Amino acid sequence: MQSFKISKTLVHISMEFAQTILNWYNIYKRELPWRGESDPYKIWISEVILQQTRVDQGKSYYYKFVENFPKVSDLANADEDFVMKCWQGLGYYSRARNLQFSAKYITKELNGEFPNSYKKLLELKGVGPYVAAAVASIAFQEKVAAIDGNVYRVLGRIFGIDKAIDTSAGKKYYQQLGNELIKNSNAGDFNQAVMEFGALHCSPKQPKCESCPFSENCIALRDNKIEQLPVKSKKVKQRDRFFHYLLVNSNDEIMIGKRTGKDIWNSLYEFPLVETPQKMEPEAFLSSEYFPEKLKSCNLNWKGVQNMKPHILSHQRIHAQFYEFEIEGELPVFGEYSVIKKKDIANFAFPRLIELYLTNSHKMG
Ligand code: ADE
Repeated sequence: MQSFKISKTLVHISMEFAQTILNWYNIYKRELPWRGESDPYKIWISEVILQQTRVDQGKSYYYKFVENFPKVSDLANADEDFVMKCWQGLGYYSRARNLQFSAKYITKELNGEFPNSYKKLLELKGVGPYVAAAVASIAFQEKVAAIDGNVYRVLGRIFGIDKAIDTSAGKKYYQQLGNELIKNSNAGDFNQAVMEFGALHCSPKQPKCESCPFSENCIALRDNKIEQLPVKSKKVKQRDRFFHYLLVNSNDEIMIGKRTGKDIWNSLYEFPLVETPQKMEPEAFLSSEYFPEKLKSCNLNWKGVQNMKPHILSHQRIHAQFYEFEIEGELPVFGEYSVIKKKDIANFAFPRLIELYLTNSHKMG
C-alpha cells in the first residue's frame, strides 16, 4: 500500500498546532452533555448521532437515547420500532438500526464488555474510522485522529492540502497527518478541539480568519484559497424521484406499512406508496396503470392532493404528493400494508417528509 511521507516542517508545525488548538479549545469549547462522560457506550451514542448531524440538532436526541437506553443492554433489548421512533427526524436511519444491531452483539457475544480499542471498535457494524477514532480517543485516550468534515476543512485549509477528501489516497493522507498531529496530546481533547474549531471558527462559509490563532501559518489564507479547500473530486449527483402517497382513510382508521430492503428509510413507516418514473400530475396518475387496481374498484371519496416542496436527501430529491381519500366501508386488503387507528399514528416512526405532511395537515392523533 502506498504510504505518504509527512515532511519535517509539518512535524515541527504539528507540536505548535496541537498546543494552539488546545489553547483555543480550553477557552471556547461548548458545554455539551457528553463532555466529561467516561462511559464508552454513551460516547459511542453521541458520536454516531454527531457523525452526520450538527451538535445543536444532535443534543436532544442524545438525551432521548441515554434516558431511554441508559445501558448497552437496554438498547439491545428495546423494541425496534421504539428505537426508530427515538431517531425520527435525524435522518440516515441505518445509524439507528446499526446501533441496535451492535448493542445486541456487545450484549450477547461480548458479554456486555464494550470494545476498548480503535481496532475492536471498527469491528462493530456501522462503526467506521471516524466513530472508532472518536470513541477510542475520548473513552480510552488512544492516539488516533478522528477525521470528520470539520477536521478535513481545518487541516485542508491550514496545511493547504490539495488531495481530494473523497478519494482513498486523500483520506489516507489526512489520517496520517492527523495521527502525526495528535501524538503529543490528550487524544480525546485534541480530536474534540479540532472538530469544535471547525464547527465554530473555521466554518465552511465566512470563517473568522481575522481572529484566527492560525492566521500567521494558514496556507489557504496566505494563498487566498479558503473557499477552494478542502478539495473534493466529484460533485454529488442528485437523483429525482416521484412519490405518490395514498392516504387510505376510513373513519378513524388509516393504512400504513413498514419499509424494508435496501432503499432509503428502511424500518420506518409510510402510507401506501406508488413511485412513478416521471413526474405525473394527480389526474394523470389517478387514471394511470400506476394507481392500484384494488383502490380503483373501491367507493372513493376524494378529498384532495397535497403537493410537497422537494425533499432533499444527500443523493436524492423526493417530489411527493399526498392523495387523501375516504373509503366507505372496510379498508381493502392491499399490498403489505396494515390498518391502524389514526389516534395511534404518533407511535410509529415516519420519514421527516411524512412527518412534515402530518404536521402541516394536523393529522396527528
Ligand atoms: N462533532 C462530532 N463529535 C464531536 C465532539 N465530540 N465534539 C465536538 N464536535 C463534534
